[in-house]
Amino acid sequence: MSEDLNILHSADKAAQYQSLLPQIEALIHGEADLIANMGNICAALKEQFNWFWIGFYLVKDDELVLGPFQGPVACTRIALGRGVCGTAWQQQQTLVVPDVDAFPGHIACSSLSKSEIVVPLFNRDEVAGVLDVDSTEPDQFDDLDKRYLEKVVRLIRF
Ligand code: SME
Repeated sequence: MSEDLNILHSADKAAQYQSLLPQIEALIHGEADLIANMGNICAALKEQFNWFWIGFYLVKDDELVLGPFQGPVACTRIALGRGVCGTAWQQQQTLVVPDVDAFPGHIACSSLSKSEIVVPLFNRDEVAGVLDVDSTEPDQFDDLDKRYLEKVVRLIRF
């Protein structure tokens, strides 16, 4: 496996995801370690999209606990139903938040974050964690991000 990522410089977000997805697949192919794979997925997404914060939270007992991430330091524990992450976990579905200040209970790990998407990870039928992405710009995520980030997390084997 080559460790160099081929970054697509384009304004076409779908094309960027299409270029990145097979590379992520190749990066984690043959590696069984969850943390190593999550680390590389964050790094690859950060390199391609340069989002403010991107990271995983993993379900441990009755909380989400911070996992591999790229970006500024973040809150370490989130309860079920709290914030965007805890709500996505509770509802077992992806949440796209165009304006974090308008989301009741949003947890502001950084005041710079303005929009967010949280995608649950499923291990069999259970939520095993979430992928959280934050942008410093409002309204940065949409259905296309939902579709492709859901594809990304489906590559993860537990
Ligand atoms: N904003 C998230 C908390 C995690 S940080 O953004 C990294 C939330 O409301 O759940």
